[in-house]
Amino acid sequence: MKKVIVIGATSGIGKGLAEYYSANGWIVGVTGRRENLLQELKQNNKNIYTKSFDILSLDSAAKLLELINEMQGVDLAIISSGIGFVNHNLDPEVELNTAQTNAIGFTRMADFLYGYFNTQGYGHLAAISSIASIRGIYMCPAYSASKAYVSTYLEALRSKAVKEKKKIKVSTILPGFVDTPLLGKDTPTFWKSEVKTVVKQITTSLRRKRRKIYVTRRWRWVTFIWRLLPSYIHERIL
Ligand SMILES: NC(=O)c1ccc[n+]([C@@H]2O[C@H](COP(=O)([O-])OP(=O)(O)OC[C@H]3O[C@@H](n4cnc5c(N)ncnc54)[C@H](OP(=O)(O)O)[C@@H]3O)[C@@H](O)[C@H]2O)c1
Repeated sequence: MKKVIVIGATSGIGKGLAEYYSANGWIVGVTGRRENLLQELKQNNKNIYTKSFDILSLDSAAKLLELINEMQGVDLAIISSGIGFVNHNLDPEVELNTAQTNAIGFTRMADFLYGYFNTQGYGHLAAISSIASIRGIYMCPAYSASKAYVSTYLEALRSKAVKEKKKIKVSTILPGFVDTPLLGKDTPTFWKSEVKTVVKQITTSLRRKRRKIYVTRRWRWVTFIWRLLPSYIHERIL
């Protein structure tokens, strides 16, 4: 049986991915801070292993290793944990928490997993960035900047694996708007997708070991144009 770990599986996209892999015969390790939601996942799905921890805590990598040992290995690890808020007032607590969670917490998890796969001799590491990573967005500076960090970091790990001839695949997942608790009521959204649709597209692309996974697919073309927009136009829109 194949084994997957989803970091940040208590809600939203991560929860959807965990449920999908469980229903499709995988052994699934799930993490998040909310123990009660992890237990709920375990009760309602098959072959679930749980470990609750904060990705920012100093022992998060040790907790992740405990989970992997309980599962007796892992083939695919998906980092879905993340936070994001509209922050027009640049509330420093919001900006700093977002940067900490999405960049520092992500780095703890990604580096540990890359190292684990390196020792194991193979593995597939995936993490959720965002289409918000493409350009700086005035209403959520820390969110867009931290997701650019995630995308760039994953690109570096992908190159590292190729240059060092490791059997490690690295995938960057770039969702547009997805209907999850992360989207607060203040977030302006269009083309909002259902978790089910996004999970189907992500899992298909992960099976094919794609480098960059835009979900839904139309965001690939939106971001292509968005990247090309001159700054004086971008500054007046986003
Ligand atoms: N929804 C969207 O429109 C959208 C678009 C683009 C990208 N994304 C990205 O997709 C990923 C999943 O987001 P979502 O929309 O599914 O949001 P969500 O429903 O709020 O899920 C976020 C998950 O991250 C976990 N998490 C957050 N901070 C954590 C921490 N410090 N330690 C451990 N776990 C933590 C949460 O678990 P606990 O609270 O239990 O710890 C939860 O399971 C995020 O990286 C997000 O940035 C979302």
